[in-house]
Amino acid sequence: MKELMNGTKWMDMDGNPIHAHGGYILFYEGYYYWYGEDRRENYYISCYRSKDLFNWEFRNHIITTESKASKIRIRTSILLKREDGKKVNLERPKVLFNEKIQKFVLWVHFENGVDYRDAACAIATCDRPDGDFIYHGHFNPYGYMSRDCTLFLDDDGTAYFVSAARDNADLHIYRLQDDYLNIASLAARGWQGEYREAPAIVKQDNIYYICTSFCTGWAPNQGKFGKASSMEGPWSVLEDFGDETTYDSQPAFIVRTENGQLLYFGDRWDGQDYFNSSYIMLPLEIMDGKMTINFFHQVMLTDTEEIIFK
Ligand code: GAL
Repeated sequence: MKELMNGTKWMDMDGNPIHAHGGYILFYEGYYYWYGEDRRENYYISCYRSKDLFNWEFRNHIITTESKASKIRIRTSILLKREDGKKVNLERPKVLFNEKIQKFVLWVHFENGVDYRDAACAIATCDRPDGDFIYHGHFNPYGYMSRDCTLFLDDDGTAYFVSAARDNADLHIYRLQDDYLNIASLAARGWQGEYREAPAIVKQDNIYYICTSFCTGWAPNQGKFGKASSMEGPWSVLEDFGDETTYDSQPAFIVRTENGQLLYFGDRWDGQDYFNSSYIMLPLEIMDGKMTINFFHQVMLTDTEEIIFK
């Protein structure tokens, strides 16, 4: 397949709809691995892989209600089911490979499945990018609330976890330990009281750019970006990117392709029927310190493996 229509159902190579919402793409050993929410049956997180971002092979339900769980710290709940047997809620999974421990480390937003009051982050690890991940439970970083989140890996191997704190009012940037299994410091606190969600980060010419949405549940709103010359800040005042609904999407993640193209991936949520939610992929431009996206319906792969938009 060499063509995708934005906002329609994208299929995997078996012809099944791709369930990888609120996700993340990790490039590893020649493949793009796409992780995302899969709320069907007893699944939580699914993984697909592709060599070209168009043809996706379903790999595994990497976390389900039946996943193995083990504690790596005290006072952590490792339950993947509630007492009544119902599912908890795992949202916006992100995965990085940690060189030091040679493991894939997943961070995700955890809620109890009834409401959004736990506001915690959870982690899991695996020896393979698409194996059965072992769940290590959820916690509140330094006691803070932690909801919409992302991971960012810097060129020197330092990783950051970014999440919405204080009932989504503030965005926190945490530096991770060098094994990525815990938080090492609260590196920056951005945009207090601005209610930014759905963070995604990219680095270009030694400047860090973060794009976020406003906090309106499944309904789309005006995307904004900020920038800094260090992840620790100071971060700039937010500026608009995209249109007033970010082209009917909420940021999921940003990919830099093997040949250097920057791509914005957004979720086009269906608030009435979550399973009908789709994705959009748009060219992301960073020029003169500004982050820009423009809308195109069609995404195509040329014979020279370039992604073009129409
Ligand atoms: C959005 C958030 C999603 C999900 C949703 C639930 O604001 O970005 O990840 O939590 O709310 O209403």
